[in-house]
Amino acid sequence: MTFASRRVLLAASIVAGTGSIGAETAPLTRASGRPVGSLSAPADPSAQAGATHHGGVPPAPVLAAADAPAPHAVQAGSRPAWSEPERATLRSLWIGALGPTPPDRSNRVADDRRAAALGHRLFFDPALSGSRQVSCATCHQPSKLFTDGLAKGQGASGELDRNTPGLLGLGYSRWFYWDGRRDSAWSQALSPIEAPREMNGTRVEAVRLVASRPDYRSAYEAVFGPLPDLDGLPERAGPLGDADARAAWTRLPRARREAVTRAFADIGKAIAAYERMLVPGASAFDKYVEAVERGDQAAAAQVLRPMAVAGLRLFLSSDAQCLMCHNGPLFTDGEFHNIGTGTLDGSAADLGRAGGIEPLLAGEFKCLGRYNDGPRRSCPELRSLARKAKAGSLVGAYKVPSLRNVALTAPYMHDGRFATLTEVIRHYRSPRPGSAMIEFRPMFDMTPQHIEALVAFLETLSSPPEAPAEFLRPPPSAHGAIPAERPAQ
Ligand code: HEC
Ligand code: HEC
Repeated sequence: MTFASRRVLLAASIVAGTGSIGAETAPLTRASGRPVGSLSAPADPSAQAGATHHGGVPPAPVLAAADAPAPHAVQAGSRPAWSEPERATLRSLWIGALGPTPPDRSNRVADDRRAAALGHRLFFDPALSGSRQVSCATCHQPSKLFTDGLAKGQGASGELDRNTPGLLGLGYSRWFYWDGRRDSAWSQALSPIEAPREMNGTRVEAVRLVASRPDYRSAYEAVFGPLPDLDGLPERAGPLGDADARAAWTRLPRARREAVTRAFADIGKAIAAYERMLVPGASAFDKYVEAVERGDQAAAAQVLRPMAVAGLRLFLSSDAQCLMCHNGPLFTDGEFHNIGTGTLDGSAADLGRAGGIEPLLAGEFKCLGRYNDGPRRSCPELRSLARKAKAGSLVGAYKVPSLRNVALTAPYMHDGRFATLTEVIRHYRSPRPGSAMIEFRPMFDMTPQHIEALVAFLETLSSPPEAPAEFLRPPPSAHGAIPAERPAQ
């Protein structure tokens, strides 16, 4: 089903729905005996349910204070159906509320299918790496929802510092990487190619690769125009490589460096056009929301078992506060928050967002730079960042990951520290002491049953990607088979 047709279906079901669903859950009570799970949804639910990205992910619902009157509290005995405000929140999380991918004005080929087809081939091509062994798909494997199943990525020269995130729904992101050090998908795509620890390539090699293969060359030139003249250029050269590559780069006349860099930026733009095609499909949770909207109790009971519904109620509750950061159809506000996972001192310090701002502002391919295809006023966020960094509120904050498919993409957090969802939820009950400025109230009252319910709910968010089938597997290669994905470790 397309997003557009889902929205029509939503509109129809809102009219028809009675919503008397939800009575099937077992009541969850606090260790203290008080029922858990009250929610105060926004005053104008349509404003939230209808909001799609650009301009943003729907805003976080306003959560009631823990002790405020809770009209929707889960009561033992008589189990209320979902109230209208709760249903509005459910609709805001539904995949059909996602809307079309917001335009990326910084990339003139963002929605060009030919660029996506070229990007698809490049994404899987290990020849973009210095060793000719590592492609984007080595770490972002389609069969693992574009993750690698490892705690930390395994690059050209060993383990990286962070966990490999999945890529579904990436076209809705404003920031890239756990610390947001890139502000467009295309500028992000250029980083691993030149990072010595990831793919260890150089931009001259990348442009040479495209120029040397007739299929790449014709695809590139059809989309972007003529490739630069590479005659007489060194084999490898680039500003971020090893000493030889950097020296060779510095010796080149400025105009040649610029021509190569422009073509290199185009390679990133093609890869980004490919990544934009990858979105999550409808999960059991989404089918549940549709059944609730239709007032179809039987269908609702079939897609979500009572434990998962109890977990969903808890997820929406002001006790758990999950919606504060994990909201909208991708279950993320796309921003950076501090849940006490940063490593603030020592040689392995990881400051999260606070550490990502400097590289972002210094980046050659940032929105405010010369390779942006759009107007500069399309990057207002960049200007306010330095201010926020000064306020210090970004230390230890990380990009909120989408929770779609989370049950299939262990291990968790920016450093892969948790192997299971149970461990993640336990963290929310009792975060590591000493981490500064946590933005949520730890849920001390959470019982093992609550944890089980939340995990059961998170497991309902799994779904296959909704993308053209050919984009979910390696492309047919003109140069023999592309090496298979690295086996699970
Ligand atoms: C060696 C493994 C590895 C390779 C190769 C690799 N990545 Fe990644 N990727 C990672 C890791 C690890 C991160 C998180 C790093 C961080 O946040 O500091 C990441 C982050 C990303 C993100 C950010 C996602 C988000 O939600 O912000 C995107 C997009 C991405 N990679 C795309 C690519 C593309 C495109 C390529 C090929 C040009 C590529 N990656 C190559 C491991 C890899
Ligand atoms: C204050 C914002 C905030 C709140 C509240 C919050 N989260 Fe998170 N969540 C985050 C951030 C940020 C991360 C990533 C942290 C990191 O990588 O170090 C995260 C990570 C996760 C992950 C791991 C996902 C992955 O792919 O690694 C899960 C699962 C999760 N949260 C579920 C929940 C649940 C369930 C709740 C409610 C009990 C909740 N979160 C409340 C911000 C929040």
